[in-house]
Parts: sequence; structure tokens; C-alpha cells
Amino acid sequence: MELDRPEPGPGEILVKLVAAGMNPFDWKVADGMLQGVVEARFPLILGQDGAGVVEAVGEGADRFRVGDQVYGSFGGIPRGLGSYAEFAVVPQDGPVATMPQKMVYSQAAAVPTASMTAYNLVEKTGVEDGRTVLVIGASGGVGQAVVQLAALKGGYVIATASPDMTETMLHLGADETVDYRAGDLFETVSEAHPDGVDVLIDLVDGERELDMLAGTVKKGGVVASTVGQANTAGLKKRGIKAYNFQNKASGELLAVLAELIDGGKLTVHVSREVDLAETPAAIAEAKRGGARGKTVIRL
Ligand SMILES: NC(=O)c1ccc[n+]([C@@H]2O[C@H](COP(=O)([O-])OP(=O)(O)OC[C@H]3O[C@@H](n4cnc5c(N)ncnc54)[C@H](OP(=O)(O)O)[C@@H]3O)[C@@H](O)[C@H]2O)c1
Repeated sequence: MELDRPEPGPGEILVKLVAAGMNPFDWKVADGMLQGVVEARFPLILGQDGAGVVEAVGEGADRFRVGDQVYGSFGGIPRGLGSYAEFAVVPQDGPVATMPQKMVYSQAAAVPTASMTAYNLVEKTGVEDGRTVLVIGASGGVGQAVVQLAALKGGYVIATASPDMTETMLHLGADETVDYRAGDLFETVSEAHPDGVDVLIDLVDGERELDMLAGTVKKGGVVASTVGQANTAGLKKRGIKAYNFQNKASGELLAVLAELIDGGKLTVHVSREVDLAETPAAIAEAKRGGARGKTVIRL
């Protein structure tokens, strides 16, 4: 639908978006799965991530200039102003930063939520040189970035991958892959790593499956779930530190990611580009699963 162009308030910038990045968060909002967690204002424009050009700056906003190329996680759901639109507003001190120089808009729009989440997950779980990290859901948006950033830290990365994604995962830095559909994942990992892994980052499993997979983690190890499925108290009793991870987005972190991208240390694979009119179908497809990278909307 046609809506009025939003105006930047004091300390805000107005961005003319060229591309928006799609995340599972968007369809979870659309489906009402986050009621009580994220308040939405209607009419609601979906979407968090995007990249574009600063069109105007609000009173007192001096961090960016009109014409700057920026990317960010615009988080406009509480105001109804998401990123699946021609314009988005964001506080200049919010999760927005200068775009990576080596990326075009459609690539930069695919970065924010997934790569910030991955970066924070790798930090939070203490991945470092020589630590073994099992990543469940590695072939999706967050997972591909986790694999790269964990490998960059020197972690020994075991990534889940369907056969068509094995090579991609190894190319991104995984040391081993495991096909979660080929057999019992717990048994396969336990057999290959009888002493256990140090870190389990799980992007997909429900509580029962996660509890089972946590059996692959050494005492003193760490488990993180991005889908709120870690039984933290139960795992603590088993000597495992567990987190139900919530991402924290920031402009500073986006600047760090831009440096990693420009330095050739982090890549983001855009597997699909759609127009706004094709977006409902793309959302429905994303819900069915099987992501092989990021979906981006051309605006
Ligand atoms: N808490 C937070 O702050 C936060 C932040 C970002 C994301 N998230 C959540 O984290 C989840 C992942 O996000 P995403 O952007 O990476 O999603 P995505 O791009 O849709 O990727 C999910 C991946 O998991 C794979 N997968 C599905 N079931 C699997 C299983 N049982 N074992 C192994 N792999 C499996 C899928 O491929 P196949 O189906 O082909 O295997 C797909 O590649 C979403 O639920 C999202 O909402 C949470």
C-alpha cells in the first residue's frame, strides 16, 4: 500500500532503501508468534534489515550526511516502520553504519541481523583457538556467518549440512560437516568426538532435541539456543553453561562487520533476490525452511 513518507525526528536519519534483507523474525512477526515480545503498530511494514542512501537527517543528527551509503537493522516494528519499504527511519546512534565498501546494496541488506547475531554468539560462547564448536542449522543465514566467525577465532567447526551444502560449509571454514538427516545426529557426533565438544550453537532445535544434543558437550562446556529452547537450569545441573541467546544490535558492531567484510574475512551469500510484489511468496517459502543463504527484496 502507499503510505506517507516518514520524517526523521530529532537525532534520527531517513534512509531511502535500495534493498531489504529477509529474516525468520519477519515472518514470526507476521504470524503473531512474537506477540507480547515485540509490540507492533499497524499499518505494519515488516522487516528489520536494509541498505540504502541517507535521504534526510533530523534535528541534531550529525553522524551521517545526506547521500551516505548505509546499512542497518532498522527495527521499526514498534512504529510500524519496517524495512520492506522505500523509506526507513533510524536513530543515528542505533544499529546503522556505513556500508561495507566491497558490497552492493543487495548484499549489504543481507548482513545485519544474521551476521550481528553470529558475531555475538561466537563471542558469548567463548569460541577460541582449539575449541570444538558444533553448529546446528549452519546452512542458513546466521549459521553461515557463525561458521566463518568461529573458524576465524581458531575454533574447530563441525557444521550441519545437507549433502548439497557440504562443500559450501567446508569452503566457509567448517572442519567437518554432518548431515543431520542421514542418521542420529547425537550418535554421529558422539562417535566422532568421544571426549565431547566445547560449544554447541543451536539455531533450530526444540527443547527435547537440544537437551539430547547437549549430551555431546563436555562438562564445563557452553550451549546457546537462538530459539529460546535451552533448559538453562537443567543443563546447569549437568555442568553445562546454557544461554537462551538474544541478539544486541548496534552501529558499532555493524562497523566491525563492515571491516571484516572489506578485509575478506566474512562473506554473505544472497541466494535469492525478489521484488516487493514477490515478497509474500518468498516469505511463505522461507517459512517452509531449506534456506541456503539470504533472501533480499529489491525496493
Ligand atoms: N534470538 C535471537 O536474537 C535471534 C537472532 C537471529 C535469528 N534468530 C533465530 O535463529 C533461527 C535461525 O535463523 P536464520 O536466519 O539462520 O534462519 P534460516 O536462514 O532460515 O536458516 C535456518 C537453517 O537451518 C537449517 N535447518 C532446519 N532444520 C534443521 C535441523 N533440524 N538441523 C540442522 N539444520 C536445520 C535449514 O536448512 P535445511 O532445512 O535444508 O536443513 C536452514 O538452512 C531462526 O529461528 C531465527 O528466528 C534468533
